[in-house]
Amino acid sequence: MQRLALVGANGMLARKVRELVPAGCALAEFDLPDFDIADGDAVRAAMERCRPAVIVNCAAYTNVDGAEADEPLAMRVNGLGPGHLARAAGEVGAILVHVSTDYVFDGGKTTPYAEDDPVAPMSAYGRSKLAGEEAIRASGLTAYYIVRTSWLYGPGGKNFVETVIRLATEREELRIVDDQIGSPTYTGDLAAALFALLDAGANRAPFGVYHFANGGETSWYGFACEIVALMRQLGMPVAARRIVPIATGDYPLPARRPAYSVFAGDKIRRATGMAIPAWRDSLAAYMRARID
Ligand SMILES: NC(=O)c1ccc[n+]([C@@H]2O[C@H](COP(=O)([O-])OP(=O)(O)OC[C@H]3O[C@@H](n4cnc5c(N)ncnc54)[C@H](OP(=O)(O)O)[C@@H]3O)[C@@H](O)[C@H]2O)c1
Repeated sequence: MQRLALVGANGMLARKVRELVPAGCALAEFDLPDFDIADGDAVRAAMERCRPAVIVNCAAYTNVDGAEADEPLAMRVNGLGPGHLARAAGEVGAILVHVSTDYVFDGGKTTPYAEDDPVAPMSAYGRSKLAGEEAIRASGLTAYYIVRTSWLYGPGGKNFVETVIRLATEREELRIVDDQIGSPTYTGDLAAALFALLDAGANRAPFGVYHFANGGETSWYGFACEIVALMRQLGMPVAARRIVPIATGDYPLPARRPAYSVFAGDKIRRATGMAIPAWRDSLAAYMRARID
């Protein structure tokens, strides 16, 4: 890989992708305000100048509730942007790695979602991300990986782990939704999975759609309990005395979320040979690294 274009380079996931770029591979970074994936001409011109071997798209409009109020903006960025990148990738002969979401599903299943399960987003954000997947397929590009992930956290971003740490140091009681089940995913593990797909020359994984989340499942409540338990173990200050499980309906938000969005990991495991770390192990490692 000679040159990698990292799109959405200032975001949370991009931070970990940058750390894993192989030695000898030149990195070119793109983000707002200089680069807007919703501007097709600008995307094409930038990729023609850069001529990357791989484009990793971490850019997205990620404000899930905000998207309900401005679906056209979410659609331009999440729906049209990936199509612009895919056409540009086709023109310069690059592989596109694009990140999508569990919110393309309605959460009606009770067993892990496979890549070919029917999609049915319930939110503007989910619809916009699905439109992005469809735009890549419609572009005619075949050299792409669409990697759906869920419940992402890591350094340098707004995420559930950081919110719980803040609330647990400030409040005596936390009330957390217990009827949405998913898999927390560490950005470092997802970034490694993206490179595992790209890796190994002739052994490169077949192009297409993949699911990647850390192993195991929990609710937001279970996730919060584990974060606070780790805070105590690590000697961090904890004001929270009670963590109270609540129902989704007790904490109304503009966007509907899937009640269940656990991913089956067998496709990416088979294609790459990678081991998928369990969410508790990755969370513990993240929390330890965070205080070092
Ligand atoms: N976070 C999660 O829980 C989660 C779960 C499942 C899937 N995902 C997906 O994972 C990917 C990475 O998410 P993340 O949490 O790392 O996101 P993030 O931290 O919000 O980063 C996204 C980056 O994209 C930039 N961006 C926004 N609009 C853009 C545009 N029009 N042109 C160029 N850049 C633009 C953002 O800039 P500004 O900050 O200036 O807007 C930001 O730097 C996204 O595709 C997201 O949909 C995330």
